[in-house]
Amino acid sequence: MKKVNIVFGTVYGSAQYTAETVSKAIAKLGFVTKLLQPNELLGFVPPQDELLIVVCSTTGQGDIPEDIAPWFNELKSNAPYLPALQYSLIGLGDSSYDTFCGAIKQFDELLAELGAKPLTETLEIDACETMEPEIEAETWITCWQNAVTSANEA
Ligand SMILES: Cc1cc2nc3c(=O)[nH]c(=O)nc-3n(C[C@H](O)[C@H](O)[C@H](O)COP(=O)(O)O)c2cc1C
Repeated sequence: MKKVNIVFGTVYGSAQYTAETVSKAIAKLGFVTKLLQPNELLGFVPPQDELLIVVCSTTGQGDIPEDIAPWFNELKSNAPYLPALQYSLIGLGDSSYDTFCGAIKQFDELLAELGAKPLTETLEIDACETMEPEIEAETWITCWQNAVTSANEA
């Protein structure tokens, strides 16, 4: 089974807690997971033979949280070519903003520019709908696991 790298960007901690929950749940399924802290991100180029999950909330007006923004900018300026990388995205946002889940959409665009491939559809979690984003993320793991299995069979 491929190793799974999980990164998060947060302002108030919900995306971090969601990422921790996802990391633990995936580890229980038998995957080796690495949950990277924001201070471990600079210089981190996601290995293409491993899976990537980005969990990120949105701040400002569709903006990326400050803790993960340096990594986003580094990837954007260094532009490593990652055609074999498979990624999944979990966005936390609030649909009362025009720029709902804008940060995770920016990650989606960036990773696509780098040639990486989405393994699943982006999970967008709306703070208007739930106060417990980690529960929605845990439910989504079944869909993620199915996608991993299908990708391995292909
Ligand atoms: C000042 C501020 C600005 C926000 N801007 C957006 C936004 O532009 N788009 C969006 O979808 N959600 C926005 N949100 C909602 C947060 O993304 C949402 O509450 C999220 O669950 C916070 O997760 P966190 O605790 O990981 O930071 C904003 C929240 C605050 C407090």
